[in-house]
Amino acid sequence: MDPASIRPLVDPAGWALLTQLPPYDPEQALALGSALRGTGLDADLVAAALTQSRLRARAVGKFGDLAADMLFTPDGLEQATRLSVAARHAHRFRTAGATHVADLGCGIGSDAMALAGMGMQVLAVERDEATAMVAAVNLRQLPEARVVTGDALAVDLTGVDGVWADPARRTGAGRRLHALADYSPAVDRLLALRERIPSLGLKLGPGLAHADIPGDAHAQWLSVAGDVLEADLWFGPLAPEGPGRSALVLDAAGTGHVLGEAGDPSAPVEQAEAGRSARTSTSRTAPSSAPASWRGSRATSAATCSTRASRT
Ligand SMILES: C[S@@+](CC[C@H](N)C(=O)[O-])C[C@H]1O[C@@H](n2cnc3c(N)ncnc32)[C@H](O)[C@@H]1O
Repeated sequence: MDPASIRPLVDPAGWALLTQLPPYDPEQALALGSALRGTGLDADLVAAALTQSRLRARAVGKFGDLAADMLFTPDGLEQATRLSVAARHAHRFRTAGATHVADLGCGIGSDAMALAGMGMQVLAVERDEATAMVAAVNLRQLPEARVVTGDALAVDLTGVDGVWADPARRTGAGRRLHALADYSPAVDRLLALRERIPSLGLKLGPGLAHADIPGDAHAQWLSVAGDVLEADLWFGPLAPEGPGRSALVLDAAGTGHVLGEAGDPSAPVEQAEAGRSARTSTSRTAPSSAPASWRGSRATSAATCSTRASRT
């Protein structure tokens, strides 16, 4: 998105126009646009405000009432973590004792909002100028957060004790990317950061191949109301479960169930024979860092496990 379509909205007059717009109604948008232009308002400002009005309406599913106080870009909204899920990401950092988290490729700032909202200092880095402007608006009520426009892999991480990254996984044309090498910021560079900053969390696409998971990761697939949205890799203090794979299943009300297995997260999944349920095995040993409830438990595939569930 062109920064020029965000800039006028950040001025007091543009913001005031945005807050005065009626709830978005696609049937009325054309008429509303010409009525506003008829009052002498600049045509570009009216177009920018109506675009935001439309995006805010679309964003309610991810952000609820908060959407009415936020700005978006179309791509940024599509890629943004829904706030209920961002809160779960942030909770991992807070529980691990992180105090200053870098969000490398912060998009419109959803994960950064959750991190800062839980009291952590946040360095939110975004290379796209319009998206960074939008993130700064969305984070304006949270003095814990600082937005920097630039390359996330070139930023100074002095003082940072946790790193979160949700690298972009689509091409400009909106096609989904599956190869880890195609993510941006580059996943191998992000993974290398854990040598300096062990508390590293990465959000990747749910098509993540088990063979691509580093042996020291806890990989957790996450679904909301039946849609599998992401696969997160948690390292160091962010992974108290220890290396392994799990699925966090959230229902529409946000209640979570965890289905998990400890062990080598890159190990192949045992396939069920057609017409039979997957056989479970006790052959994998949970690492000593895994909670007692995991040790000696039956190992099941993250995709098929149904033997162990716990509320979160
Ligand atoms: C999937 S989005 C992040 C969404 C964010 N977690 C949220 O919930 O709003 C990834 C972002 O990373 C940005 N990005 C990609 N490569 C980058 C780089 N090298 N430096 C900074 N930002 C980058 C993209 O512009 C995009 O906005």
